[in-house]
Amino acid sequence: MSRIACVKDIEEIAIRKLDKNALDFYYTGAQDQLTLANNRTCYDRYKLLPRVLRDVSKVDLSITLFGHKFASPILVAPTGLQKLAHSDGELATVRAAVRKGAGYTLSTMSTTSIEDVASAALKAEKALSSKGQTIDGDKGGRWYQLYVFKDRSVSLDLIRRAEAAGFEALVITVDAPILGNRLANKRNSFTLPSHMEFGNFKSYAKLVASSNLAGVEKGSIAQGTAEADPGYWLARFSKDQLDPSLTWKDIEWLKENTKLPILLKGILTHEDARLAVYYGVDGIIVSNHGGRQLDGVPATIDVLSEISVAVREASAQKNKKPIPIIADGGIMRGSDAFKAIAMGADAVMIGRAVLWGLVYDGENGVCTVLDILNEELRLSMALSGCSRISEIDSSYVLDQSSEIFLSKL
Ligand SMILES: Cc1cc2nc3c(=O)[nH]c(=O)nc-3n(C[C@H](O)[C@H](O)[C@H](O)COP(=O)(O)O)c2cc1C
Repeated sequence: MSRIACVKDIEEIAIRKLDKNALDFYYTGAQDQLTLANNRTCYDRYKLLPRVLRDVSKVDLSITLFGHKFASPILVAPTGLQKLAHSDGELATVRAAVRKGAGYTLSTMSTTSIEDVASAALKAEKALSSKGQTIDGDKGGRWYQLYVFKDRSVSLDLIRRAEAAGFEALVITVDAPILGNRLANKRNSFTLPSHMEFGNFKSYAKLVASSNLAGVEKGSIAQGTAEADPGYWLARFSKDQLDPSLTWKDIEWLKENTKLPILLKGILTHEDARLAVYYGVDGIIVSNHGGRQLDGVPATIDVLSEISVAVREASAQKNKKPIPIIADGGIMRGSDAFKAIAMGADAVMIGRAVLWGLVYDGENGVCTVLDILNEELRLSMALSGCSRISEIDSSYVLDQSSEIFLSKL
């Protein structure tokens, strides 16, 4: 086999390795998958405008978010059900994030508990220290992604557990009041193998008891109830448990119930970016959920510029520094990360790229993905004449569909 040279190579191997049930869950998007495709192709429309004769002998990828230094602006996005990718699941991913000093967000839909992920991360940090290895970043830097449950006590319990386990921010996913129309998962009645289960709901007997999943043993929830229901078990779980009535008022409720910084994940318009600042959230994640929720929405790179203007203006009105903007969706190259940062992101998240690494070779596979993307970002920076992330701005990219570009033709 030829050597791995880019994340696409790893993706190809992962696609060959995964069974159809898992591949459909990881790979596909909602409805006609227009947004999924757009997420990737839109990056190609942005051209790089490199500057030359600048000293790029040292290129520093590190960034600071909420006072925490990360080795790179490429962070690990929350993705559910990681044991479908590798038997170590979330444990492998968090260990890799520790080894690379990468930001990490654990999904509510994880197949490993909050506490087990936290303890694996702490052990990995200790192991690095005992080997005398250093990473270019602070220890910690783990965030928890929360879906808000109809039963608020479930959400509060998850928040308390995440706080107690040392997670440093809450990522509230707001683009999934109901699950997107994922046709592939419907067609094959997507299921979790019976030996897997949600990692965080073992003590939530009442969660099961209070839902129409009552009476179904945990294992058989995982095996799916497609015969009894037109949907598949994940759609049904979301419908039964997650709260579609969430509004901005609930963001106030969340703020009252935690001291952790709150980021909203799934912002796609400048109007909502302004509201996020107005309601005092600490950061936003410009995301279309990897094309898995509302199909037909724009690629995030295309809305970043206006969202970053809105955030700057709204923050200035409050006499505050602009809140951080993180972008995700379709990032498969370090140059994609460069372009997103140029268009206004402070950092980016990667979802599927991490999953492909996990399928390819567990913890080491995720490390390989992070290494490749970080080196590609370093290369993009050096060849564009940037030695620090803060130097990357919109002068380094040209959107081929923009008026400026068209006027030059
Ligand atoms: C298999 C899979 C599971 C996901 N699970 C979650 C989740 O549990 N919570 C969440 O907020 N986002 C979830 N996402 C969305 C990711 O956090 C992220 O927004 C998206 O994957 C970014 O796009 P990319 O995969 O093209 O990098 C999931 C994405 C995938 C592909």
